[in-house]
Amino acid sequence: MIEELVGKGIRLTVEAEDILSSNKSEELLQKILLLKKPFISKEDIEPLIKKPQVEVIRTSDFQPLAKEYAADIKINHTFDVTGKSRTKGSVDNFISHFRNRFERLGRMLRRSGSTPNIDLGDVKRHLNEKVRIIVLISAKRETKKGNLLFEVEDLTGSFKVVVSTSKYNEKVMDKARSVILDDVVAITGKVLEPYLIAEDVEWPELPVIREKKLSENDLAAAYLSDLHFGSKHFLAHYLKAFTDWLHGKGELKELAGKVKYLNIAGDIVDGIGIYPNQEKELVVKDIYQQYAMFTDFLENLPDHIEVIVGPGNHDAVRRGEPQPALDRDLVSSDITSVGNPSSITIEGIKHLMYHGTSIDSMISNIPNLSYMHPEQVMVEYLKRRHLSPIYGGNLIVPENIDYMVIEEPPDIFHTGHVHKNGYTQYRGTLVINSGTFQDRTDYQVKQGHVPTPAMVPVYELKYGRLRTLDFKS
Ligand SMILES: [Fe+2]
Ligand SMILES: [Fe+2]
Repeated sequence: MIEELVGKGIRLTVEAEDILSSNKSEELLQKILLLKKPFISKEDIEPLIKKPQVEVIRTSDFQPLAKEYAADIKINHTFDVTGKSRTKGSVDNFISHFRNRFERLGRMLRRSGSTPNIDLGDVKRHLNEKVRIIVLISAKRETKKGNLLFEVEDLTGSFKVVVSTSKYNEKVMDKARSVILDDVVAITGKVLEPYLIAEDVEWPELPVIREKKLSENDLAAAYLSDLHFGSKHFLAHYLKAFTDWLHGKGELKELAGKVKYLNIAGDIVDGIGIYPNQEKELVVKDIYQQYAMFTDFLENLPDHIEVIVGPGNHDAVRRGEPQPALDRDLVSSDITSVGNPSSITIEGIKHLMYHGTSIDSMISNIPNLSYMHPEQVMVEYLKRRHLSPIYGGNLIVPENIDYMVIEEPPDIFHTGHVHKNGYTQYRGTLVINSGTFQDRTDYQVKQGHVPTPAMVPVYELKYGRLRTLDFKS
């Protein structure tokens, strides 16, 4: 075949010749000729080669319980931007966006108590009084004496707040250190013009008491994210071990048979041009081919499993959040495609799914957070009732409605992005960061970040039991 191509005046790289010497077929020759290129490289040939069919192990004695049940999935479209993006990025859009955020979080913070809630426009009428203000943080700095100074605003005006360092104030100071730009908080304190001297800081928070929601049906959900199809670090064999398990191979067969739902929180593919020199990290450099690999994975799953997929920062939708659902022509398999973030009720259990792109800016701005414990970052989101508080910390599209507000407390909160499994419970919400199927990248080595690949959390919806299965063995 190489001779035929050379005979037609087509030149080949050494790598291309290597591939062709082990892949001799008339079909491939015709495909190469159809490219009508005078110079053929490895990158031209790879997408043309038929991938060997993945042989999935199906055990004959396996009777999955999940097969007996119809799926029960409801997408809450109010909290999903898919099909509803209206912004032109104008000043008006920014104003509407912040007003919407402020009003909704402000409503959560408003409560009646002994300290009156006042507007900043009225603050000077309350000199020497104790008041409570609900504000957005527009600036934060430390003074020479080590006090914290905040510039704050509401819809009626702006003011300055001081949190002083003193041993009587340590608890408030700790909270104030965690306050970040664009946070919406309630601050209680005394008005001593030109400042309000803070005595307490509160975030909108989740309600303390909530009933744990369980499913009536004995089914389970598995949680994945950050598959990164197309990356040279993608762990195909471990993902195949997971697929085989769902088909009844290996231990915990009964649990495998209960898995009815598979939730995938973004970074389905590695994408193209996501960061400088990414092409060196890719084995598949065509975005459609990367999604075709994902479709193959979906096609090999048991038919009774319902897959819910949201995008991440590596996926082929707009980069700014909120992100709309992946397009139908990227993933041909039958899935429930949702936006990022999205709110989905599965078997009556409310799920909030967010890729987690803003975890980076949260870690760099809030003391004591780290990539080792993504679940602690997730708790900070829940406290703030917001998924990306620092505007511009990561790319945000200023929609007139702020889709990053956590309007309803979720039963399960699922993210990915940092490639590290992490779990906790916070005020009745089960918090899950679902790890990855990508091996440690060179970038992560430089960062000293150690991912936890091929660990899949599986949750039994009837019993409220979570366990993590390791598919590396
Ligand atoms: Fe990722
Ligand atoms: Fe990501």
